[in-house]
Amino acid sequence: MSRDWADVLKGLGKDVPPVGEDENREAPWELYRDLARTCTEKPTVIAQVGQSLDGRIATASGHSHYVNGPESLDHLHRLRAIADAVIVGAATAELDNPRLTTRRVPGPNPVRVVIDPNRRVPMSHSLFKEADAETLIVTEDMPGALPSHCGMLTASGADGQVVPDLLLEALRERGLRTILIEGGGRTISGFLAAGLVNRLQVAVAPMIIGSGRPGLVLPEIEKLDAALRFETRTYALGADTLFDCRLS
Ligand SMILES: NC(=O)c1ccc[n+]([C@@H]2O[C@H](COP(=O)([O-])OP(=O)(O)OC[C@H]3O[C@@H](n4cnc5c(N)ncnc54)[C@H](OP(=O)(O)O)[C@@H]3O)[C@@H](O)[C@H]2O)c1
Repeated sequence: MSRDWADVLKGLGKDVPPVGEDENREAPWELYRDLARTCTEKPTVIAQVGQSLDGRIATASGHSHYVNGPESLDHLHRLRAIADAVIVGAATAELDNPRLTTRRVPGPNPVRVVIDPNRRVPMSHSLFKEADAETLIVTEDMPGALPSHCGMLTASGADGQVVPDLLLEALRERGLRTILIEGGGRTISGFLAAGLVNRLQVAVAPMIIGSGRPGLVLPEIEKLDAALRFETRTYALGADTLFDCRLS
């Protein structure tokens, strides 16, 4: 592990594996140092989306492996290591069967949170089968006996929808301050529309899918004056370009 990455983890108060060879000299260490500073100053929500040039995150059938290249995947795993908890929507958990671990980089696994009000993610999926980290299901519908590494959270409003604010509050009550929202588009868009995302990371791949599942979708606006604008820095991640957007 590189000294740069060890410094980032140390700054966050996380366990630091032994320092050795620099595994990736090209990684945007300055960005990670900056994110770590922000996360220690205040509770922070980071959202990350990997998309094609035409703003798609998957095909219509939900195939998304992989839109982005290996450097972007390393970046995503570093964001997971920086975060205390990572949130995904039910469609991502169901279709991708992700593990949501940091296996590509040294660093601790975050708590895994899946918003699954209709309990459609099968218990045979990795989040429930593999005890690499705690898994929390956000639902009102008690799922019955759960494996010992799993738990349940409720964060619904009167309409039965999960309220992003309430979910963040419930996670913070558990001491989870830095939250990564990893997808898919509908889940990230819900947090963005609620004004709860501090840093948005968009990794754009030089690829056109031309149809399929969109990334960010917000309520319609009439004039561009109402569009979201923010300070942005860009970083090269192999063939992809990462936009680091500072929303607040
Ligand atoms: N390229 C990338 O970076 C990336 C990353 C992640 C995923 N993906 C791809 O994205 C696709 C899935 O994305 P998606 O936008 O279709 O779906 P998604 O965001 O993964 O999941 C949406 C579903 O999660 C539940 N949900 C999320 N927020 C909720 C809320 N506030 N209240 C209640 N329920 C909520 C709902 O489940 P119910 O429908 O059961 O109500 C909702 O339909 C997959 O194909 C995956 O492969 C790509």
